Amino acid sequence: MLHRSLNAFDLTVLGVGAIVGVGIFVLTGTAAAKYAGPGIMLSLVISGCACLFTALCYAEFASLMPVAGSAYNYAYATLGEMIAWIIGWDLILEYIVACIAISIGWSGYFVNIMGSIGIHIPPWCASAPGTTPEAIINLPAILVVLSLTALLILGIKESVRFTSLLVFIKLITVLVFVSVGMFNVKSANWTPFLPYGFKGVMTGAAIIFFAYIGFDAISTAAEETKNPQRNMPIGILLSLLICTVLYILVSAVLTGMVSYKELNHPAPVAHALNLVGYTWGSALVSVGALAGITSVLLVMLMGQPRIFFSMSRDGLLWPWIAKVHPRFHTPYVAQILTGTVVALFAGFLDIGTAAELCNIGTLFAFCIVCGGIVVLRQTHPEMKRSFRCPLVPLIPLLGICFCASLMLSLPQLTWIRFAVWLIAGLTIYFFYGIRHSRMASKR
Ligand code: ALA
Repeated sequence: MLHRSLNAFDLTVLGVGAIVGVGIFVLTGTAAAKYAGPGIMLSLVISGCACLFTALCYAEFASLMPVAGSAYNYAYATLGEMIAWIIGWDLILEYIVACIAISIGWSGYFVNIMGSIGIHIPPWCASAPGTTPEAIINLPAILVVLSLTALLILGIKESVRFTSLLVFIKLITVLVFVSVGMFNVKSANWTPFLPYGFKGVMTGAAIIFFAYIGFDAISTAAEETKNPQRNMPIGILLSLLICTVLYILVSAVLTGMVSYKELNHPAPVAHALNLVGYTWGSALVSVGALAGITSVLLVMLMGQPRIFFSMSRDGLLWPWIAKVHPRFHTPYVAQILTGTVVALFAGFLDIGTAAELCNIGTLFAFCIVCGGIVVLRQTHPEMKRSFRCPLVPLIPLLGICFCASLMLSLPQLTWIRFAVWLIAGLTIYFFYGIRHSRMASKR
């Protein structure tokens, strides 16, 4: 049994901690420069809608079944074992690949900041092979993953305290950027508003969706939450709302300060401040962004083992994965496994591939969650729901439409990679899970 210690405030902090990161600090700029132009604001609204509709469904599920494991458990209880396996396997992809992308982004900022204070990390160990001619391994990415893994094994409450501090720094950073930047906005930079048309806005939305990933991580902490039926929906909806408002502000200021063409940069937010002459602001934002990205990594690293934990408890994965530490009460085996896999890939992969793959997996999981709410209202109308998603089936159907259109805006190669992952998962299921699961013992 995991220990219940989190309240609604802790969950909102966890949520904001999981959401604001590489997406807003890095991808907003690149997506604006390459696809959406100032229309990135519209992209953020579109992917924000997809998340809001899904979050309402998540909140109903979370108020219904306070167990660890995110959408996986929801699917297990409502849609049957095989769909649950698919979604669990899909969420493993989401979390692992998100952690990989985030730690690579973290490393980029870290190397950048170190460089600006005169500590030059040798290029051979500063990024993945192929990114620069000298690069062999991304050592900072590996080290940050391993250190945070150790912290998470020590206990969730301590980690939440650490996250709170990082979230506070991150919010201050975003507010400093918006308040300094807004006096330098020139409306001329917002024209043309849609340089690449509406198609560009949709591609931008499919990429910037990464910026919202994380609110679902809150639901993976359901078993560690006091009064989850009340606190889960509050945490999920409040953190999503706070982040959406911040994102639209940041993207409006960012594209208003400089031309969108200038934003294809590894640290666009800091870069934009530099361009308008605020070097101190740029340095401050870089440090804050690093703190922000750290908190995202922490929460995402925490979410993943809880999915492993639930799946192995249900017999779909090997039981040794679910071992809880006798003293720290954390699923330490799953945590170590996650940390090791993420660290390994983070050392050798590039960020773009990881972010796209992560998005497609998450969007697919979101579609199943939305569908699950509609099914559950039909099959189990009597179950007590302390939070009810409004306007069912309209809201879940809108969620599915938005998520599916974003998936369709992703490249074909991403679809192929995703299909390979799902086929691998089904193979494991048919060779192991189907015979060892709790449901199998009843069959
Ligand atoms: N939303 C998270 C980020 O942007 C994953 O880093």
